[in-house]
Amino acid sequence: MAYKFAFVMDPLEAMLPEKDTTFVFMLEALARGHEIFHLGLAGLHAEGHQGFAYARRCAVARTAPHTRYLDDGAQYRLEDFDAIFMRKDPPADDNYLYATMLLSLADRRRTFVLNEPAGLREANEKLYALNFPGAIPPTIVTYEIAKLKRFMEAQGGEMIVKPLDGHGGESIFLARAGDRNLNPILEAVTRFERRAIMGQRYIPEIRNGDKRLIVLNGEPLGGTLRVPRDDENRGNIHVGGNCVKAEVTPRDREICRMLRPRLERDGLYFVGLDIIGNFLTEVNVTSPTGIQEIDRLDGANLEARVIDFVEARVAARAGAARLATGGLDR
Ligand SMILES: Nc1ncnc2c1ncn2[C@@H]1O[C@H](COP(=O)(O)OP(=O)(O)O)[C@@H](O)[C@H]1O
Ligand SMILES: [Mg+2]
Repeated sequence: MAYKFAFVMDPLEAMLPEKDTTFVFMLEALARGHEIFHLGLAGLHAEGHQGFAYARRCAVARTAPHTRYLDDGAQYRLEDFDAIFMRKDPPADDNYLYATMLLSLADRRRTFVLNEPAGLREANEKLYALNFPGAIPPTIVTYEIAKLKRFMEAQGGEMIVKPLDGHGGESIFLARAGDRNLNPILEAVTRFERRAIMGQRYIPEIRNGDKRLIVLNGEPLGGTLRVPRDDENRGNIHVGGNCVKAEVTPRDREICRMLRPRLERDGLYFVGLDIIGNFLTEVNVTSPTGIQEIDRLDGANLEARVIDFVEARVAARAGAARLATGGLDR
């Protein structure tokens, strides 16, 4: 059965064919005979209760040209697509938020949306981890510099501070007592106590890497350790972290078991967990990546598992819809 899949994302030509997870989702979908469509946030619109997408049919390939539009675009009802992949990269700003609200208009009996828009609104990537106390390191969230300093002392004189809306390692500092830059760092990150930030125990195992664990429907599919450069604390690939092979450990599975019921409830089907040592530090839900790196290191094909999952969800909907309308399956 051939389906129509829409991808809400950044411009097609900005994709990195060797790195982007969305790229291999598209490649795998095409290989199975599905049609794929591209749209940006501005392609989403509504007339009354009906959500629409202005989308362009497209194609991707391993050899150049890596991306192509196959038409000039047309207006579709959201329900014209069998599945919509919300894969817009952060920032999760106002336009992102409104896009999730428009996607919420899609009739979920006819269109499967990954991830569920309400779940995307629920899960700030840093704060969502606080729901899993057995998985996270000692952590506080506050506007106040004095509180951050007290927390740091309680952690032995050092801590990580991070903004709640950052990504790719942006503005993440290792703060230390006695550092003459400590005050300006805390002033800059909290914008002089005008926004809340996260203070977290510094986990020394970061030197072995920050594990990206790819999780589908609550189950770990695979992982890679992003090892920081010698001159860096941050392991993010964007700032030079090097991906090395990693096993899925019993602790990783335990963390997944803690998250599964909540992820399921929030419709967060495809997420990327960040795990340092034994601790969950982030739940990436917007457009988690890492599949291509894991595929290469493990000789795996994780995108096939994801497209299998989406196809199964779509097929289940189609079956239910036929039953409801007294169709063939009766
Ligand atoms: N508690 C921590 N201990 C040590 N390093 C940390 C900690 N939290 C974050 N980091 C460092 O910062 C990087 C990015 O952190 P993360 O919380 O995943 O935010 P981002 O959204 O920027 O990826 C990690 O790869 C790691 O190197
Ligand atoms: Mg991260």
